[in-house]
Amino acid sequence: MTDANADRTADTLSRPFSVRGLTSRNRIAMAPMTRQFSPAGVPGQDVADYYTRRAAGGVGLIITEGTYIDHSSAGTSDRVPRFHGEDALAGWADVADSVHRAGGAIIPQLWHVGVTRAEGAPPVADAEPVGPSGVSLTGEPKGRAMTQKDLDDVIAAFADAAAAAERLGFDGVELHGAHGYLIDQFLWSGSNRRTDAYGGDLVARTRFAAEIVAACRAAVSDAFPLFFRMSQWKQDAYEAKLAQTPEELDSLLTPLAEAGVDVFHASTRRYWLPEFEGSDLNLAGWVKKISGRPTMTVGSVGLDGDFFGAFQGNSSGVTGIEQLLERIENDEFDMVAVGRALIADPEWAAKTLRGDTGNITPFSAEMLKTLR
Ligand SMILES: Cc1cc2nc3c(=O)[nH]c(=O)nc-3n(C[C@H](O)[C@H](O)[C@H](O)COP(=O)(O)O)c2cc1C
Repeated sequence: MTDANADRTADTLSRPFSVRGLTSRNRIAMAPMTRQFSPAGVPGQDVADYYTRRAAGGVGLIITEGTYIDHSSAGTSDRVPRFHGEDALAGWADVADSVHRAGGAIIPQLWHVGVTRAEGAPPVADAEPVGPSGVSLTGEPKGRAMTQKDLDDVIAAFADAAAAAERLGFDGVELHGAHGYLIDQFLWSGSNRRTDAYGGDLVARTRFAAEIVAACRAAVSDAFPLFFRMSQWKQDAYEAKLAQTPEELDSLLTPLAEAGVDVFHASTRRYWLPEFEGSDLNLAGWVKKISGRPTMTVGSVGLDGDFFGAFQGNSSGVTGIEQLLERIENDEFDMVAVGRALIADPEWAAKTLRGDTGNITPFSAEMLKTLR
């Protein structure tokens, strides 16, 4: 990267971002990534060190891997960390403290997997998978339809987790409303066949998510921000679209924004793809424009070997950093989440900010096998 390009990168990405009481010292977030290195659901010192390395390596905001709320059907692995129980919460307090000492802000991603839970899976082997209608994302019978008591319990469990996060010293929480897990199963017509107030049109299908957001808002202080991760795509259905048009996206976002979402994290697999015809805006861009809330983009940032080469004009430029900077400078979105590139190189953020991009370690799938 030339000096001028390095300066532009630093100028654009180094600006702090604040929402309620949270300040990220720059625009780079670590995307939430399940790693399954927490035996019996307890994050240990190795997990604290893993996140701390990324904070010390320049990441402004760490979003933790999905962590299960306190509901017997919330999870599907006993190596995914819980966000309840004294042992797990003590582990999380250490994680938050350690990341703060390295200069990073940190929020946990709160997760319930819904009907994607495998039958008989840990952590609670005899807990049945539950979801809006007892069907999978594609409408096949799976698990059991949630009763009003189930809904109330899950809403309360999300709120308890948000309150615990604030008590433990985290800077906010992210609700996992994406990728076909429980909250998204309610949003998605393929899995939500309910005929009560939680099913029907898109606005009705947001009711469960909005009630979770409102309950979390009521459980935390004014200083504590709520992030909401949403996606069009689902596990095993990359082409799925919750909203076919900006108007439909508005129906989905407005109840969530009104319920108290502070930041929308718009999950896409390639951040540069336009979301709807007739505009270059990506999903985070549309969500910001429609909701008026700050947004975070994500998807293959820094994965293409030519990402930084785009400045030299030796790449198609489509996935290059120049386009990312331009979009931030145009206020299309506020933050950028980086996933696999940060697994590969804990110092990705610092190297990018100082223009030392020739020394970035590229990602390979092998790297997922260890918690480096
Ligand atoms: C190993 C792995 C685990 C993931 N786990 C989660 C998760 O727990 N929650 C979530 O919302 N997304 C999860 N994702 C998606 C990432 O947050 C991110 O959106 C995706 O990897 C695209 O970003 P990238 O191209 O920068 O890696 C995961 C991705 C990977 C590679």
